[in-house]
Amino acid sequence: MPRKRVAVLISGRGSNMTALIAAAKAADYPAEIAIVISNRPDAAGLKHAGSAGIATATVDHTAFNEDREAFERALHGELQSHQVDIVCLAGFMRLLTPWFVQQWAGRMLNIHPALLPSFKGLHTHEAALRAGVKIHGATVHFVIPEMDSGPIVAQVAVPVLDTDTPDTLASRVLMAEHRLYPLALRLVAEDRTRIVDGRCHIVGAATAEEALLVPEG
Ligand code: GAR
Repeated sequence: MPRKRVAVLISGRGSNMTALIAAAKAADYPAEIAIVISNRPDAAGLKHAGSAGIATATVDHTAFNEDREAFERALHGELQSHQVDIVCLAGFMRLLTPWFVQQWAGRMLNIHPALLPSFKGLHTHEAALRAGVKIHGATVHFVIPEMDSGPIVAQVAVPVLDTDTPDTLASRVLMAEHRLYPLALRLVAEDRTRIVDGRCHIVGAATAEEALLVPEG
């Protein structure tokens, strides 16, 4: 099966993007990173992608005078011209319209730093600490028009320690995100996901490793 062509959309640091680029280096990985696109010209991740030999593009949302549709048409054009099969949102901090989401329905993933449907939106680590949960984590899901919703492909659980601050928890979750996203993209690129009644089933052996990543040790 030919490797799926993936676009990674970022707005900043791009550490999840870096994890996807690293995973896609393996000869048996079913996807290649065809392009990294940022909506911010100063996103640190762009430099890293460039030095890893990956094509990059910027579609600067501020150049579209708040015309969200024009911005998204430009983004869509960039994706089409690179013959992209799958879009991975990785810290891409723009809300997408139903039109754009529809263009990529079933072919666009997002990573969110919480165990959805808990803690949607921003500041998830603060919210988890406030709520006093003992288990936190991250989720990769298919994108639907509603924010931080959509069929869940895979999740990773991270313990919350009494001593955690939002920063310590965030960095532990981020390490886990870097294991989760490559695994979830693999499942989608291998065409092993099926949406059944709004849930994402995994074809083949759905081991714990594939359905819910658990902390090592
Ligand atoms: C990640 O923690 C990702 O889960 C989060 O932004 C961070 C981006 O970091 N995404 C969201 O909050 C989306 N709602 P990165 O640029 O280093 O990958």
